[in-house]
Amino acid sequence: MGESLKKILVFDSGVGGFSIVNEILQIDSGVSIDYLADTAFFPYGDKSDLDLIERIPKIVKKGIMASNADAVIIACNTASTIALYRIREIVDIPVIGVVPAIKPAAKLSKTKIIGLLATPRTIGSAYTDQLIEDYAQGVKVIRYGPPKLARAAEDYILGGQIDNEIIKDAIYGLLEQIDGDKIDKIILACTHYPLVRKYLAKYAPNIDFIDSGVAIAKRLIDLLKLENNKNVSVLSSAFSTGANDAKFFDAAKKWGFKDFKTI
Ligand code: DGL
Repeated sequence: MGESLKKILVFDSGVGGFSIVNEILQIDSGVSIDYLADTAFFPYGDKSDLDLIERIPKIVKKGIMASNADAVIIACNTASTIALYRIREIVDIPVIGVVPAIKPAAKLSKTKIIGLLATPRTIGSAYTDQLIEDYAQGVKVIRYGPPKLARAAEDYILGGQIDNEIIKDAIYGLLEQIDGDKIDKIILACTHYPLVRKYLAKYAPNIDFIDSGVAIAKRLIDLLKLENNKNVSVLSSAFSTGANDAKFFDAAKKWGFKDFKTI
């Protein structure tokens, strides 16, 4: 066991991709997981499209070279909705994007009114408009891009206290819109948000939260043909782009990663 494991790289602006790592650890088909956080450019949610398109593909490529991965997961809705096509153009291994779980949420909703929480950049992206157009016909999608929630989740995982005002603002930013009181599903369309799900749930006890994590883990099994390899996944290297390294590497170590390197 061990030597034959395929290697994947999970990429995010910060620790948000840890929520995707958690889902991969739940599957029986093992892989070796490396992680890259673009800490020097965090948060992505308030950067311009041009800056993100310019930067992200280069950083992902650098990460793949450092990791020697067989596949990469862009574990960031912002990076995926803005830059996935560019990453695919310059990277020569399979790329899995993480995009808002609009399809399952629209399908599962009974009230046909769903909430979408994502970074301001994802909320306004053409990719998100298209997902709604394709998969949420007949469903009202109420959107809100809480400006500080990704940062609050990042700080929390890096050892800080949770800021309840920011959590509350995220939920009420949806519920206080027209028809917001009829929302029965909320899509967590930023990989940072599942990391603070239990705090969000306090302000929306009767609403289901839906994210893309489980679907991504299944996609990985299909893509790498991992069925029944009966290995447990292992966490290997955590890479960062150089900001906040001490705290990031400490959090990665607590999550289970073994080696740490700035690239
Ligand atoms: N985790 C990222 C996402 O899924 C973005 C957080 C950020 O850098 O703003 O959108």
